[in-house]
Amino acid sequence: MKIVVRPDAAAIAELVARLIADQLRARPRTTLGLATGRTMERIYIRLAALHRLERLDFSQVASFNLDEYIGLPASDPRSYRKYMDRFLFDHVDILPERTHVPDGMAPDHAAEGLRYESAIHDAGGIDLQLLGIGETGHIGFNEPLSAFASRTRAVTLAPHTRTQNAAMFGNDDNAVPPRAMTMGIATILDARQILLVATGIRKARMLALTVEGPMTAMISGTALQSHPNCLVLADEPAASQLTERAYYDHVARYDPEILALPG
Ligand code: F6R
Repeated sequence: MKIVVRPDAAAIAELVARLIADQLRARPRTTLGLATGRTMERIYIRLAALHRLERLDFSQVASFNLDEYIGLPASDPRSYRKYMDRFLFDHVDILPERTHVPDGMAPDHAAEGLRYESAIHDAGGIDLQLLGIGETGHIGFNEPLSAFASRTRAVTLAPHTRTQNAAMFGNDDNAVPPRAMTMGIATILDARQILLVATGIRKARMLALTVEGPMTAMISGTALQSHPNCLVLADEPAASQLTERAYYDHVARYDPEILALPG
């Protein structure tokens, strides 16, 4: 893991969008792993702006989203498919048939998990995986007790996650679907490069545990400690509980490659 801290969420969004843009320019056929949620909104808005202003090309990109609510059709405005259309896909030249989101309406969840894993495999695997972190420490929707060897499957959301995500559901926790399809931890760890993005004080505790705590299935983010290419991008509030911050800043200062993705 390497850790880069910037003053605020706007600076983090700018940096992450630039890193993704560098990757797409170096390798136009990149397969992206994408996340949803509030942290990502600014990043996608910035990427859409880079497409508009600098002709950032998505025409050869393929994408796989981490997760989708079970029971929401793709057409539902609260689905993650619609979120992606709203914040990114409708604003860039990515081909719809190359964008993938797990099917929350699939009648057979196990079959849908296998189908999604095969689609990722057939696309050559994920080059660059974008992750946020939940207040339960989840990556994707891998809630506490998710196995590090888990693959795409149906999961039950933690009560705290339903509260965290209630804004899209009229602030009613009980209206948030209780189940979702999510890439597993092993699926995520297969990506060649991971960017974990954390902004805001509400992420401070889980980010510190993810980076510095022991690896545990109770906090799925800690699995990222075993990934050879995981870059953590945090704003000052999210980084505020990291105890070894001076060391991370030292590494960031002397490592000329810290922001160079393998491509
Ligand atoms: C969303 C996802 C989640 C979010 C996490 C943070 O696709 O997989 O892991 O990244 O819950 O969400 P926000 O950014 O809304 O705090």
